[in-house]
Amino acid sequence: MSLLLNRTSFGNLSNKGNALSHVEAEKLFEEWVLNPRLKLHMKQVAHLMKCWSKEKENLNQEDQWRWEMAGLLHDADWDQWPQLHCKKIIEELEQRNVDPEILHAIASHGPAHFGVEPETKMDKMLYAFDELSGLIHAYSLMRPNGYEGMDLKGVKKRLKEKGFAANVSREDISDACNRAAITTEELIAFIIPRQSQVN
Ligand SMILES: [Fe+2]
Repeated sequence: MSLLLNRTSFGNLSNKGNALSHVEAEKLFEEWVLNPRLKLHMKQVAHLMKCWSKEKENLNQEDQWRWEMAGLLHDADWDQWPQLHCKKIIEELEQRNVDPEILHAIASHGPAHFGVEPETKMDKMLYAFDELSGLIHAYSLMRPNGYEGMDLKGVKKRLKEKGFAANVSREDISDACNRAAITTEELIAFIIPRQSQVN
């Protein structure tokens, strides 16, 4: 099954800056995503995107929401339409005149799958958070106290264990960190305290 999007341009430039309202985005999220584990993953990635845009990029609230929205909806079609993953949500958001930057971030969150290269910082951070966030969450579930006391060393150890959260691509994680010009350590240290707030 190929998920290649076979295009590199998304949305219309005249829609720059447009996002769904919080209510619209949450409605779409609730209607399209039924699996509670996937929902939590998407909420966690959304929160990380928001935190990064605020703390590291110093963006205003409106722009923070655009980052958060990309995170919240990046896997929206995975649950019910896996064979149309990425294509369906992009087409839906194109119809709703959403900012091309948000669409591009969603389209490039798995370059190996969708054939779209992450270009902007928003693209790169969504790609970077996606896989690593999943591994860290899986780790929290096997710890008696969840995120409490979780440290860099423990996460790095799990990352090295090929059998742990085997579906999480280690290559994607290092590729994403390289593209975003951050170390895996920095990214882990950023994720742990913030992701623990979303459960
Ligand atoms: Fe994801």
